[in-house]
Amino acid sequence: MEFYIDTAEIEAIKKYWDMGVIDGVTTNPTLIARSGRVFSEVVAEIAEVVKGPISVEAVSETAEELIEESKKLAEYGEHIVIKIPMTEAGLKATKELTKLGIKTNVTLIFSASQALLAAKAGATYVSVFVGRLDDKGHEGMDVVWESSQIFQNFGMESKIITASIRHPRHVIDAAKAGSHVATVPPAILDKMTTHPLTDDGLARFAADWAKVKA
Ligand code: G3P
Repeated sequence: MEFYIDTAEIEAIKKYWDMGVIDGVTTNPTLIARSGRVFSEVVAEIAEVVKGPISVEAVSETAEELIEESKKLAEYGEHIVIKIPMTEAGLKATKELTKLGIKTNVTLIFSASQALLAAKAGATYVSVFVGRLDDKGHEGMDVVWESSQIFQNFGMESKIITASIRHPRHVIDAAKAGSHVATVPPAILDKMTTHPLTDDGLARFAADWAKVKA
């Protein structure tokens, strides 16, 4: 399973890249805005650090505009993946971009039927937003389970990214469901790293070690 970090914060990206636990990065317009940085500078800096897939979002409306915008975004580097909205225009753009050899991440997917169509259009990745479904009272992870089964049934090449992750349990459930990737915010990676029993165990070992004569 691959982990991507879901942020545009360069320090968090460096921290987890250096720990060897992330394979790529996903961003979106909200995350770029939250960083308070200039888009081109942030993407260039991320590409300096991360030698794996880096998703950046195309925001145009028509298929033709999405294709042109995506071609420009792809120039940021060999690892750039273009996030394309799950719309009719987005599917058309996905098909054309795939033909051009540009990798796509079809985003804002909330049902297995959307995931299936995105895969048919040739998406490299399909991003299922589990947290936002949970927020509305649905079981977001069901969409990951269903999509995973469908993709396996037919040997579909698109990879499933479980996105909109709210807590470490989402990551474990995504892994159990066969999601190829989980894209995880830094705060959740922090929670995954630590455990109170680890801290307690370290404190006890340190206290006992102090009693040992070298
Ligand atoms: O990057 C896409 C997705 O992970 C956003 O999550 O927390 O805004 O629902 P969230």
